[in-house]
This record gives sequence, C-alpha cells and structure tokens, in this order.
Amino acid sequence: MKELLVQTGVPYSIKIGRGLLCRAGEALRSVTGAGRAAVVTDSNVAPLYANRLLQCLQAAGFATSLFVFQAGEEQKRLRTIEEIYAHLYKHGITRKDVVVALGGGVTGDMAGFAAATYLRGMDFIQVPTTLLAQIDSSVGGKTGVDLPFGKNLAGAFWQPRLVLIDPDTLDTLPPRYFADGMAEAIKYGCIKSRTLFDRILEGNACEFIEELIYACVDIKRQVVEQDERDHGERMLLNFGHTLGHALEKLYNYRTLSHGEAVGIGMVRITAAAERAGLTETGSAQRITAALRAYGLPAEDPHTAVELATAAYGDKKSEGERLHLVLLRAVGDGVVHTIPRAGLAEFLQGEAVL
Ligand SMILES: NC(=O)c1ccc[n+]([C@@H]2O[C@H](COP(=O)([O-])OP(=O)(O)OC[C@H]3O[C@@H](n4cnc5c(N)ncnc54)[C@H](O)[C@@H]3O)[C@@H](O)[C@H]2O)c1
Repeated sequence: MKELLVQTGVPYSIKIGRGLLCRAGEALRSVTGAGRAAVVTDSNVAPLYANRLLQCLQAAGFATSLFVFQAGEEQKRLRTIEEIYAHLYKHGITRKDVVVALGGGVTGDMAGFAAATYLRGMDFIQVPTTLLAQIDSSVGGKTGVDLPFGKNLAGAFWQPRLVLIDPDTLDTLPPRYFADGMAEAIKYGCIKSRTLFDRILEGNACEFIEELIYACVDIKRQVVEQDERDHGERMLLNFGHTLGHALEKLYNYRTLSHGEAVGIGMVRITAAAERAGLTETGSAQRITAALRAYGLPAEDPHTAVELATAAYGDKKSEGERLHLVLLRAVGDGVVHTIPRAGLAEFLQGEAVL
C-alpha cells in the first residue's frame, strides 16, 4: 500500500492499494471515533461494492446505513442533497458521525457537500471508484452540485478526513469512463511531469495503474497544498478545461464526455500556443498521440470563434482578463493571461497581449 499526506488546513491521508475496500473499516477507525457511518453511493456502484464496504465497516464497530441515488450527472443537484439530509436525519446521524462517499466524482461531490453542510459540517471520507475520482475529484476538497444555470455552481471547500483508493474497483469500470480518467492523467503529465507523460504515452496504463494513481494524486496534492482555495497555482489543473467546457457546452453536454472534451481542449490550446511561439514545437502532436493511445479523440471541427464564444461565460475568468493554462513544454505548465476578447485570435494562432 502507498500513502500520501495532504497538508491542508486539516491534514488528511490518501491510501492507495489493491483490496483496500475490504480494509476500509480499520482505516476509518484510525481517523474517527464515530459510532455511525452513512454510506452514500449510486445505483451502479451499490450492487458491486456496497455490501462489501458495509460489512467491513460493521466489523470495525460502525452502525451503518446506505443511501443510494440514481446514477448520473443529472442527479448532482440540490434535490438529491435534500434526500441525503433526510437519510442522515432518519438514521440519527450526529456531527460526530461520518459520511462515506463510495463511487465516482458525482457521488464524492454530493456526499462531500452534504457532509460540509449537514449540522454545519461533519466528517466524510472518500472511497473513489472511477479513475477520474481516484486521481482527481476525491482529492482537494471541492464539493458541490450543479444548478439549473450551470455545472458546479453551488458548493463548499470541505476536505475529507481520509481518501481510500482501491484500484481493483476499476476492473468493473466501463472503458469509456476509464478513458475519461486517462484524459486527466495525461493532463497531470502535461502540466507537471514529463516522466509521467512519457510513461502514459506507451499506452499500457492498466499495467502500472497503482503507480499512475499515486503519481497523479501526488501532483494534485502538491498543487492543492500550495493553493487550497483555488486562487493561483491550482489554476494549472484547468489545463484544457476552458476549451473543454466550451466544447461540452457546444454539444449540450451530450456526445462528448468531459475527458474527451478536455483532451481536445488540451490539443487545441497547445497548438495555438505553439503557433504563438509560447510552447515547444511538437507538444500538441505528442498530446494527440497520448490521447489516441487510450481511444480518446484529439480533434473537433468547431472553429476558433465558436469555441471562444462558448468559453466567454467561463466562471474561471476574472474581470476582463482570461487565465489560460499553457505549456512551456510537455511537463511544464504555466498560467498565461490574455484579454477575454482576444481568445478567438489566440486560438487562430495570433500573438495576443
Ligand atoms: N471535486 C472535484 O475536484 C472534481 C474534479 C473533477 C470532476 N469532478 C466532478 O466529477 C464528476 C464526474 O466524475 P465521474 O466521471 O467519476 O462520474 P460518475 O460519478 O457519474 O461515475 C461515472 C459512471 O461510472 C459508474 N461507476 C463508478 N464507479 C464504478 C465502478 N467501479 N464500476 C462500474 N461503474 C462505476 C457510475 O455509476 C457512473 O455511471 C462530475 O460531476 C465533475 O463535475 C469533481
């Protein structure tokens, strides 16, 4: 088993190891004196892993309850949070108890938000079961839900007490979701580690999945420690995301998955930055090769103007300036600021100041 310590306001540990799901009880016992553990999961993950987790928690002396919601991003909304609150109330959960998020990013974001707000805040732990959740969303303390006006608009920074990552759970993950997570893994390589990127490029991530998860989580840990509340360094994690979000919007959040959109976004922004002389030549081509190695698309027919128009509403932009994450070279990300109105020109390869 590998372990990392995240030194945020309240430090917490991330444990990574095959079979950890079955040792969750003792791991949880080591960080909490809680009497009750409320497990939150979705309808796909529940039949696969919930019983195993519940039994293990019970063996460690926790009184358990299980809340299952219908799987899917559409459920990441305030109504489901109210249902979680009702479950917690009905099962007599107090501030000294613990919420356990078992599932992908949707589960973690919602269970975390419910824990951040129920009784003004209680402990929660993450047991992520998608690659995306294992390398990204379970670490860093961003919790929340979508609102009718946009994604992730209501939420809270609320760090978990513990993150337990069992790579064995990925055995049941549908391939498209695995590829989605790989897009984020490629992103980590792009912004922080050429070594990781080159290893991923070989196309056999499944063969070193535990090391891959560790390397990605370690990068996220470092970034989050430097910038817990997303005011600076953490922006690097948005590499490919401004255009990725624009593409998701252009396709009405259908057709392209988040990872697919981010992958194309990484290529488009890097190709533009290469033309502007800001990025080492050949970087976009290398990212394309890495994406293709995992069956991810790297191209899209939308024009620079269409992408820029869809991206203008990006909540990550501040005033009239737009923070773009670029690469000096693969493995070396940097935040570059341009006027918001200059994005289309930038994407067309013009130098914008
Ligand atoms: N908090 C953050 O920092 C952060 C970062 C990135 C993304 N996110 C959020 O994460 C969400 C996307 O996460 P996701 O891709 O994990 O989505 P998800 O939670 O919907 O999981 C994807 C699908 O995989 C299924 N699933 C999960 N684990 C499985 C397993 N082991 N075997 C079989 N099926 C399994 C789920 O039921 C679901 O159908 C988005 O809502 C996004 O906004 C949050």
